[in-house]
Amino acid sequence: MGAFPEHCADGVALAAVADAFDTPCYVYSQTALRARYQAFERALEGVDARVCFAVKANPNIGVLGVLADLGSGFDIVSVGELERVITAGGAPEDIVFSGVGKRRDELERALDVGVGCFNIESESELERLNTLATRRSQSAPISIRVNPDVDARTHPFIATGLSENKFGVDVESAATLYQRAAGMDGIEIVGVDCHIGSQLTDLAPFSDAAERVVALIDRLAAEGIDIDHLDIGGGLGVDYQADNPPSIADYVAAVCQAVGDRDLRLIFEPGRVIAADAGVLLTRVDTLKPAVATDARSFAVVDAAINDLIRPALYDAAHAVERVGAAGDGAVTRIWDVVGPICETGDCLANERELTLAEGDLLVVYSAGAYGSAMASNYNTRPRAPEVMLADGDMIEVRAREAVADLMRGEKRLLPER
Ligand code: LLP
Repeated sequence: MGAFPEHCADGVALAAVADAFDTPCYVYSQTALRARYQAFERALEGVDARVCFAVKANPNIGVLGVLADLGSGFDIVSVGELERVITAGGAPEDIVFSGVGKRRDELERALDVGVGCFNIESESELERLNTLATRRSQSAPISIRVNPDVDARTHPFIATGLSENKFGVDVESAATLYQRAAGMDGIEIVGVDCHIGSQLTDLAPFSDAAERVVALIDRLAAEGIDIDHLDIGGGLGVDYQADNPPSIADYVAAVCQAVGDRDLRLIFEPGRVIAADAGVLLTRVDTLKPAVATDARSFAVVDAAINDLIRPALYDAAHAVERVGAAGDGAVTRIWDVVGPICETGDCLANERELTLAEGDLLVVYSAGAYGSAMASNYNTRPRAPEVMLADGDMIEVRAREAVADLMRGEKRLLPER
């Protein structure tokens, strides 16, 4: 599929990756990653704009490095992500620092390195940043995150632009905050930002949000506050299975249309649309449990689980799944539930998929390059899977598989007398 035609990418077969690194294993295609970033660049030709990859979607240093080499900026939400970007070779001035609760030490570190913009989400945060920056005789570049109150029409867990959500401030409060910020010694106003949600497959909410934010920018200009950039956030969806998202070009065109001929620099914070389809998760069938009764379900227990990929359990996400290579001896064609070995009924990677399977067969789970390994955990003391970047016929291990000893590091057994 897509970036992995015939189960190959960058001149390497997925089956060879599974042989070399075992399963479960995340695999990324450098070519696909670059192509997605470059699709943004092409769509933005002639527009004053910057793409800031949302690090949360895939924080692997190997992945960030590929994007940094292409000149990408980055959208971060923690000091941990900041250190990753710097390690990967990203430029601090091309970083926007988002997030609804930034700690004092995180603000300090971001001031140390000189991030390009602090995306402020509350009055309290603005005051705190002003105090810190003033004390250091710095002027912190800021944008205020506006919650435009539009319905992103996506899964409720990943909708962020409604007034009932915790993110940003409403338009009226933003206007007041900008007036206050204009009088602060430690603050330099540079932008306005918003982010209304993730996995959006309709352009209308983006256009609505952009129009509302642009109206605020016009109003601020009339009040004597000039804004350099509009940061529209991320959120463009991908095609997990028949989602039918708009193209990057159409998305960019819709945002540009809302901006019109205003002299504004645009910032985009895409995560999923750059990384999702550049990655897959490989897993092997461990045990088959075909239904016995006619109304029962058939389970294919695989060696990946919700600790590796939580999206199906958390958001009802339907990632495409295929068998890689020929089926093993005695393979059975059924409607299988592809489940993991974790002790939770919700540990299901794919519901009701028709597949021909034998134990030991290799499966590929598509569109796993965003919010896959990024959200992995060690639940059930399962070491996190390795991550392998395919590039020019090579397999580069960009993250080694964890060992059980790694998982116990820092823990201790109490002495008997305690
Ligand atoms: N900017 C901000 C401020 C964000 O909060 C996010 C994502 C992005 C950009 C990137 O959005 P994207 O282009 O990737 O849609 N774990 C969920 C997605 C959570 C998204 C959170 N914020 C999932 O697996 O669907």
